[in-house]
Amino acid sequence: MFFLLSGNAMPGDPGDIPKVLLVEDDPTLSRLYVAYLERADVTPYHAATVAEARSLLTAIRPSVVLLDLLLPDGHGFEVLQALREAELDAPVIVCTSGGSISSAVESMRAGAYDFLVKPFSAERLHVTLANALEIRRLKRIERTLTSDSKPDGFESFIGVSPAMQVVYRIIRDAAASKAAIFVTGESGTGKELAAEAIHRRSPRARGPLVAMNCSAMPRDLVESELFGHVKGAFTGALAARDGLAARADGGTMFLDEIGEMDLPLQAKLLRFIQTGTYQPVGSDTPRTVDVRFVCATNRDPLDEIRAGRFREDLYYRLNVVPITMPALRERGTDIILIARHYLNQFAAEEGKRFDGFDPEAERLLMAYPWPGNVRQLLNVVRNVVVLSPSGVATAAMLPEVVRAAVPMPSFAATAGEPAAAPQRVRPMAAIEREAIELALGEAGGNVGRAAALLEIDASTIYRKKREWAKGA
Ligand SMILES: Nc1ncnc2c1ncn2[C@@H]1O[C@H](COP(=O)(O)OP(=O)(O)OP(=O)(O)O)[C@@H](O)[C@H]1O
Ligand SMILES: [Mg+2]
Repeated sequence: MFFLLSGNAMPGDPGDIPKVLLVEDDPTLSRLYVAYLERADVTPYHAATVAEARSLLTAIRPSVVLLDLLLPDGHGFEVLQALREAELDAPVIVCTSGGSISSAVESMRAGAYDFLVKPFSAERLHVTLANALEIRRLKRIERTLTSDSKPDGFESFIGVSPAMQVVYRIIRDAAASKAAIFVTGESGTGKELAAEAIHRRSPRARGPLVAMNCSAMPRDLVESELFGHVKGAFTGALAARDGLAARADGGTMFLDEIGEMDLPLQAKLLRFIQTGTYQPVGSDTPRTVDVRFVCATNRDPLDEIRAGRFREDLYYRLNVVPITMPALRERGTDIILIARHYLNQFAAEEGKRFDGFDPEAERLLMAYPWPGNVRQLLNVVRNVVVLSPSGVATAAMLPEVVRAAVPMPSFAATAGEPAAAPQRVRPMAAIEREAIELALGEAGGNVGRAAALLEIDASTIYRKKREWAKGA
């Protein structure tokens, strides 16, 4: 007697006995195979037609399907199709007669897991069945470990708000194709995270994800960075070098801050996107690669086109699938989910332990308009963790700018009644702190950039932060 180990049960349904659906129209064979199945530690079900199989599939949600291909009312492939439509993960073992190996091969291509050539012994069936159940078990574990089943988000995103569900759905739907994706959204909304999610969800996931920030590089270097160059192409080009285009072959290319690429290069990029073909700087020989494009900008592309800074034809080439990242203030309680997540993560990094935020702190986090979006929220949380002892994170630990939670002008304008008149004269130190924190918010927490905005020295900001930390 041969028993399948109960290790095939899934975590969460301990001791679950696997259900095996046999789809076979020959009554004699059906009886025999059901007898085989009864000797294994599984519950057998039987369907004699495609129609019966269809209705049983959804009713019992089998663990494994044993499938004969030639059925009175159709072909076994229709059952494979039905499984896919019902989003069932049951591996399918195709049972075929000696003469139809080719259709077995075909059904493997159509998604079957394995095949058995009739006639087969009970033992042969049991081994194949045990393997199929093991595969299913491993796949399920893999799925619980990957972020798809993450209860509070998708891939690296945290958030369950309707605004983010829209983003997740577009990424899910568009990932499989090669269509170019254009991600827009305010600074710090997760545009780069979106590019990563698209890549990971795509059939190119095992290929490279190559990112290029079009604004971070001096103009004349961008072209060689992108397309590479031949030896001697320009002064200092001592050796030939592959560009990012070559490195992205078979994968995804993320063009960040696309609006900031200069116009002549935009023309070359357009050609590259249309044909997959480019020429390294200094070379006449075109090269061809297979690349999927995702690009992002935090500017309004249509404004950029009107201003003559962004080629319209390039925009339409890239804007096949648009994704608009919602501002953090449009995501409701996602703000709290994200804040709590990073509170724990940063605390772990700092060797501290925080037990969430108190209600007043959460109220303030919800009320603040987050002009620097998720990146700014991360900086605020990081600040709390670094500057405060372990325990519950309180409202007093939040930066002044969040505590004041002054709605942004665009919000005040929509808020029907006039806002309460602000206190006109306040201590200089409070005004100074507010200005610095506002600038830090705008700069996504980057002290250098905040200092530039305020036209002061970065060391001033560092010094002030130390003073506040002592005072808090
Ligand atoms: N929904 C989210 N959940 C968790 N972390 C997030 C989320 N969105 C963004 N982040 C984090 O916030 C930071 C900013 O995200 P990202 O760099 O993708 O933004 P961006 O839109 O590209 O910003 P920018 O326009 O300034 O380049 C990153 O550290 C990212 O991991
Ligand atoms: Mg970015």
